[in-house]
Amino acid sequence: MKRLLSFITILTISASLLADEGMWLPALISQRIGDMQSKGFKLTAEDIYSINQASLKDAVVLFNRGCTGELISDKGLLLTNHHCGYSQIQKHSSVEHDYLKDGFWAMTMEDELPNENLVVDFLERMEDVTDKVLDGYTEGMTELQRDSVVKANSKELIAEATKEGKGLRAQVEALYYGNQYFIFVFRTFSDVRLVGAPPSSIGKFGGDTDNWMWPRHTGDFSLFRIYADKENNPAPYSEDNVPYKPKKYFKVSAKGVKEGDFTFVYGFPGSTREYITSDAVHYNAEISNPHKIKLRTHRLDAQRKYMSKDQAVRIMYSAKNASVSNAWKKWQGEMKGIRKMNTVEVKKEYEKRFREWAKGTEYEGVLDQLAGLYAQLEPYSFANDYYRESVLVVELPAFARRIQRMVEKGEDPSAAIAAFYKDYYLPIDKECFISLVKEFDANVPASFKPEYFTNTLAQYPTVEAWADDMYTKSAFISEKDLSAAIAIVGAAQGDLAKAMDDDPAIKFYKALVDFYNGSIYPQYTSINKEITLLYRDYMRGQMEFDKEKAFYPDANLTLRVAYGKIAGYSPSDAVYFTPSSSIEGIMQKDNPEIFDYNIPQELRDIYARKDYGEWVNENGTIPVCFIATNHTSGGNSGSPVIDGDGNLIGLNFDRVWEGTMSDVVFDPDVCRNISLDVRFVLFTIDKLAKNHRLLEEMEIIR
Ligand code: ARG
Ligand code: ASP
Repeated sequence: MKRLLSFITILTISASLLADEGMWLPALISQRIGDMQSKGFKLTAEDIYSINQASLKDAVVLFNRGCTGELISDKGLLLTNHHCGYSQIQKHSSVEHDYLKDGFWAMTMEDELPNENLVVDFLERMEDVTDKVLDGYTEGMTELQRDSVVKANSKELIAEATKEGKGLRAQVEALYYGNQYFIFVFRTFSDVRLVGAPPSSIGKFGGDTDNWMWPRHTGDFSLFRIYADKENNPAPYSEDNVPYKPKKYFKVSAKGVKEGDFTFVYGFPGSTREYITSDAVHYNAEISNPHKIKLRTHRLDAQRKYMSKDQAVRIMYSAKNASVSNAWKKWQGEMKGIRKMNTVEVKKEYEKRFREWAKGTEYEGVLDQLAGLYAQLEPYSFANDYYRESVLVVELPAFARRIQRMVEKGEDPSAAIAAFYKDYYLPIDKECFISLVKEFDANVPASFKPEYFTNTLAQYPTVEAWADDMYTKSAFISEKDLSAAIAIVGAAQGDLAKAMDDDPAIKFYKALVDFYNGSIYPQYTSINKEITLLYRDYMRGQMEFDKEKAFYPDANLTLRVAYGKIAGYSPSDAVYFTPSSSIEGIMQKDNPEIFDYNIPQELRDIYARKDYGEWVNENGTIPVCFIATNHTSGGNSGSPVIDGDGNLIGLNFDRVWEGTMSDVVFDPDVCRNISLDVRFVLFTIDKLAKNHRLLEEMEIIR
């Protein structure tokens, strides 16, 4: 308990921090509110987060458990990114109605499209429950005992918190590696309908070429609406449901932004690692990232080769390509940023001072223990990376095994089969198999490979020959044959599953995944668990060591506030990027020859007529994106970007290339979040979609 008290004192006394770094817990925002107000925020802590009155938190949702969204009308209208609603837009698309390509606009509420499995979560409240979670814990307990205390108490707290009210769910989350615990209580709505999306040539303008980059001109937004039952409570989809009436929604400011303006971002960042040791940073930046990048380059090369040749293949692989490419590109920026910041050396220097200070305290030795564990972990991490980024992601074997499992369980695989082949192109997959198997073989030590792999490889003169064999003999290479085989065997599912055991694709996948599950993953996770436990001490130690610094907990997909200002930056010598982009840039990049830069003809026409309506800015043009110094991460996509008066000015969707290391180390000089200017959203709805009912339901500040 003594430890805990001193920990909490640290939390409250520390005030200063590097400009703009940090993602803060809304319930504790009173600790930052003075700083926020001094920088231009005009409201109070209670306006941001309150359990007694409606506050801005009631207008923010966790969208689809991975993005953020916000309410922008009293009729449950929700704004998020195009890339966050992408799979819903895709699911409603067919050759006749290609909403990805052409966009989608519901002109009446009846036209809004329901989505299976799409949920949004409102945060009802969050509360520090550290004392309750650790009730019954005593100093002498083992970690195992502590863990069971934490689990049992959390379970009770969750049951208590969700016992009254519809659609409630709760989770207890460890912050600062378990030095503090918070409960988060959510209300989940599951009738969420698609209202509108611009064509991908606007919503994904610039594609993966412009991804993670500034200057940017992507109109990355889509609109949904939350529906509720007649009592305004969560309910599964029903025709009788009505638009949800939120406790709070954002007013939309069309007044514009300028360099230096205060902004804050309110959303759900997914994961950061700001307090890890130099060893961990070194492993990630210098070993893990380069290998993972190389493996993904093979996949992207194979995809691009065929996508550029064939329009049908391009459509098939567009979502897969985007997801492989996204992290691939980010890791490269992250590596560069970490090197430029000299983070490994800076952390080493810090650790030297920490070690000195820790002598004779309970923290003496913690860094050595961590170093020891990282040394043990490294070979497992390396193998883990290789399995997950090479042999286990080859499409055919993974699919084959998935179908076999369904058959084993007596499930009908026909939908899964159809879905797979709809987006499968064998030549791409076969090339991936060849290059990934080669890399796996060359880089993974023998003791981390299953015998099956080594033996099978030895039977063939080359990996290519192995691939030729597998990609002709497997029953899974053809939808027709596979479906026929399944239909013939019909009821005799057990026999079928057994027969599949001899399929070369299944043999491959099984051998590798079994080895991974038996000899890599368990060790990898158990060492990682020990590391996390030690971080509980090291984290607390860092907070005692560096009493002047204001610490914030690493992101863990819980609601956070990040604040800063609109600002340009200098990416390199003699270059300065200003913070706003406009439709002029869209026109400069427009190119009918290049898929990602081929804008709709209507937009060209609007531009030619300068038909900007009331959304034109002081320079006579339409603003598109802006950057600011808010500390954001993956998961913050779709987050509201808010001005000093609490009004919506933008929609967060990305970060700049030079600042992608901000999950590990934040550099106030170059770390910038990228947002869509809300005026571009209004302009698109007005001039392109001509969907005036949506504008009418918003409260627009002009
Ligand atoms: N980089 C942004 C984020 O991490 C946007 C991703 C959109 N996808 C893409 N491949 N362009 O998620
Ligand atoms: N694009 C990210 C997202 O989807 C945001 C980021 O990483 O900055 O959440």
